[in-house]
Amino acid sequence: MGWFVVSEIDTFINEIVADIRQSPHNMIDNKWHNVISGSTLSFESLCLINALIEKLRPKNILEFGCGVSTQFICDVIKDHNDCNFHSVENIEKFLIQTKSSLETNSNKVNFILAPIEPMLINSCLFVTYSKSLLNKLDKNAHLDLVIIDGPLGRIFRRDAPLFLIKDRLHPGSIVLLDDSNRPKEQEALALWKKIFGDSIEIIEVPDFHKGLTVVIIREELPHLSFCARFRIQKIFDSIYSVWKNIGYMNKIKQLKLE
Ligand SMILES: C[S@@+](CC[C@H](N)C(=O)[O-])C[C@H]1O[C@@H](n2cnc3c(N)ncnc32)[C@H](O)[C@@H]1O
Repeated sequence: MGWFVVSEIDTFINEIVADIRQSPHNMIDNKWHNVISGSTLSFESLCLINALIEKLRPKNILEFGCGVSTQFICDVIKDHNDCNFHSVENIEKFLIQTKSSLETNSNKVNFILAPIEPMLINSCLFVTYSKSLLNKLDKNAHLDLVIIDGPLGRIFRRDAPLFLIKDRLHPGSIVLLDDSNRPKEQEALALWKKIFGDSIEIIEVPDFHKGLTVVIIREELPHLSFCARFRIQKIFDSIYSVWKNIGYMNKIKQLKLE
């Protein structure tokens, strides 16, 4: 990425969003309508991703939660030889299914299997993708475009993925949070704003299906620091989440292709 100045990204995003609201069907092939469902990214979100990739030409894209989004991004970048695409997934079965759906495009994506587990990020307990995923990314690579559409929103929170990859972001990076109309995602956005302040700009697009939010990284992100009260709250929240979802977590560990 390089043609633009960071302050112009919001204008560009607002223009694209207005175009998508007006006529999404002119923006990407209608065939994508046939594969989207309630658990995939929406048609409008795919339109936005397409526009961002075509205009900003990101060199490193990372998504949390594979599926239709992976197929779509591989298709958009199929002729972009300088683009690295990483897809993080916690369920092996979905990762294998998605990989096999890609056919000739499968070499365009680096799949990273990262289980969901309790972990400390700057002395604060979260339940999220294993930190080991960072070892599978080039140490020097800056992430230009990040799509957070996992882990499964009705079970887990989606606040921690941004903290995990914080050091790989740079001014101008764009992070998309899917399903952002939901209460837990709204809490994640409020937390990000509290922690990162004016270093990030948040553009909410609530009228896209279940809501989509664009987070623009405007400046180098400050050092992560969580207050004692929040850390205590997170200990209870994370223990409760593991206890409540232990059955689900065991089930997904064992999910294999028949
Ligand atoms: C919203 S989905 C990701 C969708 C993907 N980005 C797409 O556009 O198709 C988020 C996560 O939910 C989990 N998931 C999806 N379907 C599931 C199912 N039927 N049972 C359990 N977990 C599921 C997967 O781990 C997936 O990464």
